[in-house]
Amino acid sequence: MTTIDEDTTPATVLSVEDLTVHLPTEHGLLRAVDGVSFQVRAGRTLGIVGESGSGKSMSAKTLLRLNPGRFRESGRVRLHGTDGSGDLDVMELDRDGPMIRAVRGRRIAMIFQEPMTAFSPLHTIGEQIMEAILLHRTSDRAEAREICLEWMLRVGIGDAARRIDQYPHQFSGGMRQRAMIAMALSCEPEVLIADEPTTALDVTIQAQVLELMQDLQAETGMAIVLITHDLAVVAGTCDEVAVMYLGRIVEQAPVRELFADPQHPYTRGLLRSIPRLGMRRDERLHAIEGTVPQAIDLPPMCSFRGRCTDRIEGVCETAEPRLLELTEAHHVRCFLHDPEAPAPEPTATGAARPQPSRHDAPAVPEESPA
Ligand SMILES: Nc1ncnc2c1ncn2[C@@H]1O[C@H](COP(=O)(O)OP(=O)(O)OP(=O)(O)O)[C@@H](O)[C@H]1O
Ligand SMILES: [Mg+2]
Repeated sequence: MTTIDEDTTPATVLSVEDLTVHLPTEHGLLRAVDGVSFQVRAGRTLGIVGESGSGKSMSAKTLLRLNPGRFRESGRVRLHGTDGSGDLDVMELDRDGPMIRAVRGRRIAMIFQEPMTAFSPLHTIGEQIMEAILLHRTSDRAEAREICLEWMLRVGIGDAARRIDQYPHQFSGGMRQRAMIAMALSCEPEVLIADEPTTALDVTIQAQVLELMQDLQAETGMAIVLITHDLAVVAGTCDEVAVMYLGRIVEQAPVRELFADPQHPYTRGLLRSIPRLGMRRDERLHAIEGTVPQAIDLPPMCSFRGRCTDRIEGVCETAEPRLLELTEAHHVRCFLHDPEAPAPEPTATGAARPQPSRHDAPAVPEESPA
């Protein structure tokens, strides 16, 4: 017997399991990404948020195997081939081989945070967008040019017929960003990774680009991973949200639940930093105290404890908190919710551990089952 849930829940397109990227530096080993796991379903959008340096872009680039060979990578990045294109683990592919080139653009496309990364200065914008279309969609050059022009127009490049033969340096930053979005969408990928896709654009074109991504998602069932600092964009476009801090996901939940009932002190801090309608003019926005430390030689403790207003002395520095399952869809990495957390040290006033948790949650296995 099938349940209603099985009938209506779309298939998982991408599963990332225990993804780790460590970089040897002169100061020690930088744990840029440290055991990240998530899944994205067809037609759904996962938002990834977190302060600068938390490992969002590094995680994204690793999904396309774009890191230099000296970075130490591990984990699994599985494409499930729900459209019949076949199941594979991207992490098993040679980073310069033909297999990964067949994945890039067609199965996973990326909108980069820095638009210059995507284009070579030596070829026209049109040649570069058409290269991917010719590789993945059609071998007919005239048809590829038509598809390219259509997408340039769709992303708001007005005089596309002239622009198509120009070089990247003839495009302004905002125009290059639009061209990169056209390149990413033109091959109708199974998964789109959009790393701050609208930061360089003005507000009206931002809304247009987000709408375009959502239109294509509705047409093709593309799964989207959206990396952004903008929590308003997350609220308007994402189904689920993962909050990253120092290379780890510290909380993950369906978008409404995360905004209505955040459980990690870091998530609560991020949400308190958004301006609200109806705020008094003299009301100050909350800022999370302190800065993100470098993820080098971190001791095995909660890495947020130094900035955390709910820190429990004698607990948060004893170990790294486990990822806990509050509900099937809501996970958090914090001792406040851990029934097996060590007992806090007694204080001079005899104060016991604070009781902010409505959940005493079981741990999520660090490696999700296949
Ligand atoms: N090419 C590189 N070489 C060395 N360290 C790097 C490199 N790229 C990123 N890092 C480091 O890896 C960590 C994660 O960086 P990442 O770019 O993923 O952050 P981010 O979350 O995308 O931040 P932002 O919001 O500023 O884009 C940071 O400590 C950063 O300094
Ligand atoms: Mg980034």
